[in-house]
Amino acid sequence: MKPTILLTGKTGQLGSELNRLLPKLGEVIAPERNELDLRDPEKIRQILRNANLQLIVNAAAYTGVDAAETDEATALAMNAEAPRLLAQEAKKLGALLVHFSTDYIFDGSKNAPYVETDPPNPLNAYGRTKLAGEEAIRNSGAAHLIFRTSWVYATHGRNFLLTILRLAAEREELKVVDDQVGAPTCALNLAEATTRILAGIVNSSSSQLTFLEASGTYHMTAAGQTTWYEFANAILEEVRRAPQNLPWLASATKGRPLIASRVLPISTVEFRSPAPRPAYSVLSNARLKQVFGVTLPDWRTQLQSCFSR
Ligand SMILES: NC(=O)c1ccc[n+]([C@@H]2O[C@H](COP(=O)([O-])OP(=O)(O)OC[C@H]3O[C@@H](n4cnc5c(N)ncnc54)[C@H](OP(=O)(O)O)[C@@H]3O)[C@@H](O)[C@H]2O)c1
Repeated sequence: MKPTILLTGKTGQLGSELNRLLPKLGEVIAPERNELDLRDPEKIRQILRNANLQLIVNAAAYTGVDAAETDEATALAMNAEAPRLLAQEAKKLGALLVHFSTDYIFDGSKNAPYVETDPPNPLNAYGRTKLAGEEAIRNSGAAHLIFRTSWVYATHGRNFLLTILRLAAEREELKVVDDQVGAPTCALNLAEATTRILAGIVNSSSSQLTFLEASGTYHMTAAGQTTWYEFANAILEEVRRAPQNLPWLASATKGRPLIASRVLPISTVEFRSPAPRPAYSVLSNARLKQVFGVTLPDWRTQLQSCFSR
């Protein structure tokens, strides 16, 4: 039997890709934000209790890392309280909750890829609220999949790729942080991997037992690692090779030619962002491969694919 799936955050980078792919698995209910504001507990209960759901996919979040420093209460409501409620309701329904978390739950003091069991120690408010969400889900007893990902970008939304393209059309010289190491992950690849995993679970059986067996926390990022500085250079390299009539590219640069001729590496201290970020947040995807047989392409291949869309 095909599952009924609730998808939150359908306008987001990841949510919009999932909204395209999840209908392959079942019937998708994807409310607008004004129909389901996740800061409204009563609304969450009402929507979840009135639908016969087997899967709840939570792609909504408060993702403003710097903004969260001065608005932690809203970030907590979205990133911890809403997932807690979704998990409680999922448990009552016998549904599987799929949720996304972040590399920013780690402090970056490691120098080898983080595994799922490494102790979290978020450096910023966003990371604290996302970790609280993870813990609420794990403690709920609901069947769940928590996928931790990193440095997400897409050809729409607010992200590093589009910021670099905009700045490259405005300035001759860009300064980009070169002492943070991570794995830029394309929302499309994340959505594809998630859908593949869910297809495997749904097609084997939709029993609660199977959901519970699959339950756990997994790292899901692009393979490889880079810095924001190297990522910026790679973006500019790809854009020079790309067909210039890509609609999303024209929209990112507002149709202007790219004038940036230099990218200068700077340190995190020089950049001075409101939220501290981990210096190293590469996540090992070994568990994802071992349990689900799923691997994501490396970050450079993912970036190239973006420019052929
Ligand atoms: N972006 C990253 O670099 C990154 C890195 C690691 C992990 N993640 C995690 O990956 C997941 C997906 O991130 P993303 O980058 O795709 O997010 P995104 O593009 O910022 O999208 C967030 C979504 O949440 C919705 N939303 C915000 N507040 C809401 C509210 N009060 N009620 C209902 N919906 C609300 C937004 O709706 P509107 O369009 O109406 O605002 C949007 O659809 C999140 O869990 C995030 O924490 C992201």
